[in-house]
Amino acid sequence: MAEDRPSRTAEAFFGRRHGKTIRPMQAAALSDVLPRLRVDLSSPAPTDPRDLFPLPVERVVLEIGFGGGEHLHHASGESPTTGFIGVEPFVNGMATFLRALEREPRPNVRLYDDDAAALLDWLPAASLDRIDLFYPDPWPKKRHWKRRFVNRANLTRFGRVLKPGGSFRFASDIDHYVNWTLLEVAAQGDLAWQAETPDDWRRPYPGWPGTRYEAKAFREGRTPAYLRFVKV
Ligand SMILES: C[S@@+](CC[C@H](N)C(=O)[O-])C[C@H]1O[C@@H](n2cnc3c(N)ncnc32)[C@H](O)[C@@H]1O
Repeated sequence: MAEDRPSRTAEAFFGRRHGKTIRPMQAAALSDVLPRLRVDLSSPAPTDPRDLFPLPVERVVLEIGFGGGEHLHHASGESPTTGFIGVEPFVNGMATFLRALEREPRPNVRLYDDDAAALLDWLPAASLDRIDLFYPDPWPKKRHWKRRFVNRANLTRFGRVLKPGGSFRFASDIDHYVNWTLLEVAAQGDLAWQAETPDDWRRPYPGWPGTRYEAKAFREGRTPAYLRFVKV
């Protein structure tokens, strides 16, 4: 119910919208391809988000902040009967992914190019099978911690839209953000961490293709953690 949802008024998107100059082919993809794939939040949400896709899909997965879309493109090719909603407000990242889609189309992908919190509030309750958040902006300075995507309000959103038994995957190379996420999830209470041995967070997820930010973390000598939580 809308009145149970966290208020958007005190929140905002803190990341960058634009980077390097957009090349002409990327600009064309943004103006021609994105409007066809964008989820329209001004329309009422479907009762079942599988109806957002032009072909039958069995389940729906949301990837928040997909960057250049390396994981999204790989995962949507590996699982053609899963519908993927990818969110990325950074225009250059979205343009990179759209060019990959032009080369290798994915009919099971829909996109949103603004704050994922707005999309989460639009989606019906208990409608997603999984939420992926890989290498979110770490905001290392203490005065910026409140900008981190993992916070009580967004975890409450996850708890609302995930189906019972649905999962939330979080990868990060920033130890402080990993510990922060474990504490915030435990305090919020809708999700249970699935780990019994250290390998459960040291090993990447099955079929993991890596991401651009992960490659940078490895180059700079940082070791990621791969967390998985389940909606209880
Ligand atoms: C550090 S990058 C990681 C990108 C990608 N996941 C990877 O691993 O290469 C974090 C991304 O999250 C996006 N982001 C930040 N805030 C967001 C929000 N509120 N909703 C959706 N995406 C967001 C940023 O635009 C940025 O591209």
